[in-house]
Amino acid sequence: MIITVDGPAAAGKGTLSQKLADKYGLAYFDTGMVYRAVGLMMVKNSFDLADASVAENMATQLTFAKMMELSKDKDFRSSLGGNAASIVSSYSGVRSRLLDMQRNFAKNPTFANGTPAQGVIYDGRDTGTVICPQADVKFFITASSEVRAKRRYDEFVQKGMNVQYEDVLKDVIARDERDANRKDAPMKPAKDAVILDTSDMGIDEVFQKSVAIIEEMLK
Ligand code: DC
Repeated sequence: MIITVDGPAAAGKGTLSQKLADKYGLAYFDTGMVYRAVGLMMVKNSFDLADASVAENMATQLTFAKMMELSKDKDFRSSLGGNAASIVSSYSGVRSRLLDMQRNFAKNPTFANGTPAQGVIYDGRDTGTVICPQADVKFFITASSEVRAKRRYDEFVQKGMNVQYEDVLKDVIARDERDANRKDAPMKPAKDAVILDTSDMGIDEVFQKSVAIIEEMLK
């Protein structure tokens, strides 16, 4: 089984995907990681994020193992990493270099410990439209920018990071703008995606709703 969960930053895709992966025994691929890895390679090497050809070159050098290594860096999940990811993800050369790594995962999905899985759950922006249009079930998870900024702000504070809510909100809005308006694979729901607005829902409710939809579709 293949499930895709797309939507804007901080909509709760990661938490939902993890819970669905656990319930259905699926491997989980957070596709934002490929762009975060390339963005971080640019930042760590002091390369200019505006230079698309250097970013493309970094994307060519990225392997799954290197991505996992980079994910341990403190900036991988920070605003710095998120913004760098959003910028490099707007380059079509970068996107095309990272396609195979993402698509191939569904051919041979494995858990983090290397055990084979029955299927995969993808989380990202274009997983239902570009990476895996043949997915069995597709979700597009969204929420108001204020609610998403508050969720991200709480996450940062919990990790002990010193951030202001207004700055997180500005970041969320800027990333939405870039993700939705880039030329190549802009973020949008697949035609056959189920759209869930989670502004007024807790994670348990989102999870129960998603499970009901999956069960219905699998009938
Ligand atoms: O989901 P995330 O916050 O980790 O994603 C970081 C950036 O990567 C996001 O701003 C846009 C980009 N991205 C993308 O373009 N396509 C995906 N499938 C996943 C992420």
